[in-house]
Amino acid sequence: MSVDLNADGPADGQSDRSARIEINSIGKRYGDLQVFQDINLDFNEREIVTIVGPSGCGKTTLLRCIDGLLPVSEGEIRIEGELMTTPREGVAMVFQHFGLFPWKTVFQNVGYGLKLAGASKAEIAEKVPYFINLVGLDGFDSSFPYQLSGGMQQRCGLARALAMEPSVLLMDEPFAAVDAQTREILQFELLRIWDMRPMTMIFVTHSIEEAVLMGDRVVVLKGRPSSVFEIIDVNLPAPRDRSTLAHPRFSELREHVWGTLMDEVRAAEFDVN
Ligand SMILES: Nc1ncnc2c1ncn2[C@@H]1O[C@H](COP(=O)(O)OP(=O)(O)O)[C@@H](O)[C@H]1O
Ligand SMILES: [Mg+2]
Repeated sequence: MSVDLNADGPADGQSDRSARIEINSIGKRYGDLQVFQDINLDFNEREIVTIVGPSGCGKTTLLRCIDGLLPVSEGEIRIEGELMTTPREGVAMVFQHFGLFPWKTVFQNVGYGLKLAGASKAEIAEKVPYFINLVGLDGFDSSFPYQLSGGMQQRCGLARALAMEPSVLLMDEPFAAVDAQTREILQFELLRIWDMRPMTMIFVTHSIEEAVLMGDRVVVLKGRPSSVFEIIDVNLPAPRDRSTLAHPRFSELREHVWGTLMDEVRAAEFDVN
């Protein structure tokens, strides 16, 4: 795995693409099911906010609303002051199950968004290798997803999102489908990549440890319908690395969030519906 942190990239000089997001009293219903309600959140530029909550509490739904893929039922979402109604440029999403096209190579998958956005062949040829290198997939340009491990597939998914040079990166449990060791490697690599090119990142996870490790702030969703139960300032020293996991504040926050969610998780486990 080699990430050349000094590599000249086409994105150099755009390192402060980042956006402010305001979420005002939003709610979302699917028919009779009120998934969440009265959610108010502000995301600052160059901030990593993690969102943690039990399965089914509406984390994916919330990201899809922020992405403009789903309309909210109540309230409004604004990015840089602009009302979100449809997907907009500068907002990229990384999916839990990678979301790669199985019939496209790594190169084609990474270049897909660029192509869709109307980038020229020359631009794609310049940018794609840079982002493939950034996520450590050098030499796999012509591999197909089935030839890659889960971790490598998610590197590809991440490169595809980063290639759009987004100001907002939405991550939906991106490391949930990879093994524990790979997950840890990817977490720290993502933090390093983010450090090079800080953007507003909203990182959804059901892992309490991951939420505390990755976030500047942790948003805890709870209840049915869910809403914001707590917002925690993490305040762990930078850079976050393996030593962070042994920091007393890390354990303190992990236990705190665990205590907050335990009843809810237990209830969900025994909920046959
Ligand atoms: N397209 C949909 N139509 C109807 N119900 C949905 C749809 N998508 C999700 N849901 C329901 O909304 C709730 C929240 O789902 P989701 O956002 O996927 O939760 P999470 O990501 O936190 O696990 C769940 O009860 C789920 O079954
Ligand atoms: Mg989900």
